[in-house]
Amino acid sequence: MTGMNDRAMTETGKPLLRVLQGEAVWPPPLWLMRQAGRYLPEFRALRDKADFITRCMTPDLATEITLQPIRRYAMDGAILFSDILILPWAMGQSLDFVQGTGPVLGAIRSEADLARLDPRRVADATAPVMETLSRLRATLDGPDPIGAAQGGKVALLGFAGAPFTVACYMVEGHGSRDFEATRGMAYANPMLFDRLMDMLTRATADMLCAQIDAGAEAVMLFDSWAGLLPPAQFRRHVIAPTRAIVQEIQTRRPGIPVIGFPRLAGIMAAEYARDTGVKTMALDTGTDMAAMAGLVPDLPLQGNLDPLLLLAGGDAMAAEARSIRDAMKGRPHVFNLGHGVVPPTPPEHVGELVRIVREG
Ligand code: CP3
Repeated sequence: MTGMNDRAMTETGKPLLRVLQGEAVWPPPLWLMRQAGRYLPEFRALRDKADFITRCMTPDLATEITLQPIRRYAMDGAILFSDILILPWAMGQSLDFVQGTGPVLGAIRSEADLARLDPRRVADATAPVMETLSRLRATLDGPDPIGAAQGGKVALLGFAGAPFTVACYMVEGHGSRDFEATRGMAYANPMLFDRLMDMLTRATADMLCAQIDAGAEAVMLFDSWAGLLPPAQFRRHVIAPTRAIVQEIQTRRPGIPVIGFPRLAGIMAAEYARDTGVKTMALDTGTDMAAMAGLVPDLPLQGNLDPLLLLAGGDAMAAEARSIRDAMKGRPHVFNLGHGVVPPTPPEHVGELVRIVREG
């Protein structure tokens, strides 16, 4: 009785959302992590107008930057232009993006440092981000005066850093190869570290619900440094908080898919997939997509072309892109990279990749 209706609804739905709900779509929908960014001349032109946080917090600019790759490449997903470190900034931690160095924050090392953060500030401080999302959704689903709607087929993605990865930057105060201060605190002062993680877990769930209310149709949790942790710590600081956030979203905003990205998790990725409740797993470059599909047959997978192949372009990129795409044929798969687009990537290579993935 409902069969026809269901099919009619899914076939007219957004391809990316259909895959996140578990449907195999061919050719697979695609978007790229860091698809808006320094490799695009139109992004660099806007970059000179305002610093990074101002760009994130000005709906005109953040909306425009989010839509740049959609206009150019007709991606299936538009990911909000913002950053995972906007959450600690909104709680009151100092944050600066220093050219050539990356983010610099006032490091959290003591109870007193933690006490200066206030999660109650987040809703007001991130109001411009929510405004950006509602404008984006209206543009993507509306008539098409600026060429970004693509027939209403583009899904809007919100995101946050997962608590462990955000804690890495908050405690260390800057990027790092191994985040020694952070991982050291987790062992030496677990009470303090757990309080920070609890604060982040709650604030992240609240912020993602707000993003959904503003128009995000799916959300992604970036856990870029998950792979630094040994198994027991991985369960405690990656799987447990991710599960708490996913459950909170499922309860408060049922039906909205969460994509999880536990980068460099290795063999722990299978446990993450089973135990967190994420609707889709984003795989890093080092993970064999077909092998992961064998371990979690029902879960949609996203990924995982090496961003350096996108930089290189040519036949090597084409062959590997086809190989990833074809290995996932008949399964729910969102084509993406295994990590973000690197700044020197020629924009033509992105166009070529999109053409190859869509040739079917
Ligand atoms: O995917 C997207 O394009 C959406 C926007 C987005 C940004 N950062 C914009 C950004 C997303 C989803 C992120 C996630 C993010 N931010 C992660 C997780 C994913 C990953 O790459 O591992 C992390 C660890 C960060 C923290 C961060 N932000 C760092 C370490 C840096 C500096 C290094 C770098 O990559 O530039 C940033 C700055 C940042 N975030 C920029 C952009 C476009 C560059 C700022 C500039 O214009 O100079």
